[in-house]
Amino acid sequence: MTDPQTVTAGNAIEEPSDATSRAGTASAESTSPTTAPHAEGQTSPTSTVATSGSEAPDATASTAFDTVSDSRPLQRSSGATGAGRLAEAARVLGLLATLAIVGGLAFMSFVGRDELSERVRVQRVLPISGTVLITAAMAAGLIQAVLLENDWAAVVSLDAIADALTAPFGIAVGLRVLGGLAVLTAPRPEAEGAGRARLPAVSLIGAALVIASYSFDGHTVTEGPRWLHAAANATHVYAAAVWSGGLALLADLLGRRRGGADVVRPLMRFSQLASVSLAMTAVGGTIMAVLVMDRFADLWSTAWGRLLLAKIALVAAAVFLGTRNRWVHMPAATQVFGQAPSDAAYERLRRTVVVEAIALGCVGIVTAFLVGASAL
Ligand code: HEM
Repeated sequence: MTDPQTVTAGNAIEEPSDATSRAGTASAESTSPTTAPHAEGQTSPTSTVATSGSEAPDATASTAFDTVSDSRPLQRSSGATGAGRLAEAARVLGLLATLAIVGGLAFMSFVGRDELSERVRVQRVLPISGTVLITAAMAAGLIQAVLLENDWAAVVSLDAIADALTAPFGIAVGLRVLGGLAVLTAPRPEAEGAGRARLPAVSLIGAALVIASYSFDGHTVTEGPRWLHAAANATHVYAAAVWSGGLALLADLLGRRRGGADVVRPLMRFSQLASVSLAMTAVGGTIMAVLVMDRFADLWSTAWGRLLLAKIALVAAAVFLGTRNRWVHMPAATQVFGQAPSDAAYERLRRTVVVEAIALGCVGIVTAFLVGASAL
């Protein structure tokens, strides 16, 4: 690659300076979409050539989906205003849909495994999430072409789209589309069989494809041993989705049932599931953070690090709320189950679950920007 360029979320075409770091090296050596964070105050490996006021102003705003390198002449004007923001929106939607799909399936098979009505309800969420995921993945592919060409006309150019969908990014898009299709077309839960419900194999395959897709973009392809980063990523995405997606469904369940004995079992089951998921999420996330960071100070000296700290703070708030619910609100609410629906203890429990679910939804959104902020 003689003249590597970086196309950022801010529609800027960036030209690496002499101070190209390992971030730039990673970009030039492969078609990997992301690179390492870099400290402020250091010479940036790229220099922003053109941005619009509303666009991401520097290299830290580059996204996992939109950084490319090739040998075309440097373009100095933006012909694709807003594409960077659309790429961010597509990533947010794709991540949230992933959390809903994987969390929904786990909820069906563990928390609501012997309640057909819950499984049927969750099953309604899955096709919507699958559709959102497919749309977001396809949009990300098209936007990648726009960012590559710096021209909106690229959305109808087969050549530009084919360029954009080269591996590994193209594999990530393909796996998401296939996984979404599998989830979308999976058979609905059977009415018969009151025992443990079995999920349709096609749903499980779909979820596995979606989880695997995250091993083909972002830092997973540029930082640390590939197998280790892919394994940590898959573990992290799976566990984070089980926890956050499941919590949203639990909030919905608690909102429909006004207390009583019929919420004890789902609450206890989810509590177990969340504990294991939290541990797996933390292990996978910590391994990835160690692989991505050069040094501990990256946590506060880079935009990526600060976003990670914000994410950890949100997770800590959710853990605090969950722990409080488990050891304070749940026992208090259990004592009064079967009484009036307006019971204060039950309401506190339910509201705390809602707030915890919102906090984890925000974690998902921050993650979408975290992956974007990592490029340099
Ligand atoms: C225990 C706290 C957590 C830590 C330390 C952590 C850390 C990380 C790190 C370092 C990455 C890689 C980011 C990058 O490539 O730049 C990541 C990715 C990710 N995190 Fe977390 N995370 C945590 C909790 C969560 C939670 C609770 C969720 C769910 C709401 C979540 C969802 C995700 C997802 C979906 C990805 C994959 C993004 C991708 O590969 O495109 N994380 N996390």
